[in-house]
Amino acid sequence: MLRHLLNPMDFSVEELDRLMDLAGDIERNPDKYAHACDRKTLATCFYEPSTRTRLSFEGAMYHLGGHVLGFSSADSSSAAKGESVSDTMRVISCYADIAAIRHPKEGAALVASMKSTIPVINAGDGGHQHPTQTLTDLLTIRSLKGHLDNLTIGLCGDLKFGRTVHSLIEALSRYEGVRFLLISPPELRVPSYIREHLDKTGHYYEEVQSLDDAITSLDILYMTRVQKERFFNEEDYIRMKDFYILNKAKMALAKEDMLVLHPLPRVNEISVEVDDDPRAVYFQQAQYGMYIRMALILTLLELEV
Ligand code: CP
Repeated sequence: MLRHLLNPMDFSVEELDRLMDLAGDIERNPDKYAHACDRKTLATCFYEPSTRTRLSFEGAMYHLGGHVLGFSSADSSSAAKGESVSDTMRVISCYADIAAIRHPKEGAALVASMKSTIPVINAGDGGHQHPTQTLTDLLTIRSLKGHLDNLTIGLCGDLKFGRTVHSLIEALSRYEGVRFLLISPPELRVPSYIREHLDKTGHYYEEVQSLDDAITSLDILYMTRVQKERFFNEEDYIRMKDFYILNKAKMALAKEDMLVLHPLPRVNEISVEVDDDPRAVYFQQAQYGMYIRMALILTLLELEV
């Protein structure tokens, strides 16, 4: 049966565990997987800019021995002539075995999947979800902390438009004992559907404004960029963009084993002076992103190695 990844909740906790185990094996034994995707093709259909997601997908497919085709902006595809996502994906299905799509509109990946005859992966749909970033985040936390339950995680910055935040909260809410500190200015709180979700699951969460107060109790600090491209006016963005800046002074307040994650790109919200702190793992996180995408491609194509 054709399987897509549109939302991190599309995989059960057991399936996520298997995916992360596979990513770990790929990291340790890359040669074993070097021809796993011989004669297979990945299409990367990116209607929005990307560095990590697109290139880690492409790197993943090359490391699996496969091929890649696609486009990196709407302007360089027939979307510029008015072609619908649905028609584009029907056509891409004729050329590739699996596709990753990023689009500025919420729900675009779902629409793409409806007429596709190949697995479709949501590589970010507007301010909605970014499931493969979440797989990356889960693998990073599990690899470096050893577990995903009983953690206190602070998500800081643009919690309104930050799709990585929405996906990660939903995914972590399936693990016991996870506590969420949602650190944002009032204008950038998480959407109500995320709060309702946490109410339903019964997880502890608190919405706070002060990073200094929250940081002392955290096991994980998930920093995010203020999403300039989703703001309706420049003035609001300028007012918000430097609301939080993680620097050495703030890191001195944190636990010795707290990890700092960030989906990247970062702008000003993490000072470069923090990069050398061993707790800053955001570049390592980007590396995990390729291993988990390799595991995802193999899983959705049902390829055994
Ligand atoms: N984390 C992430 O989605 O980065 P890119 O926008 O560079 O793909």
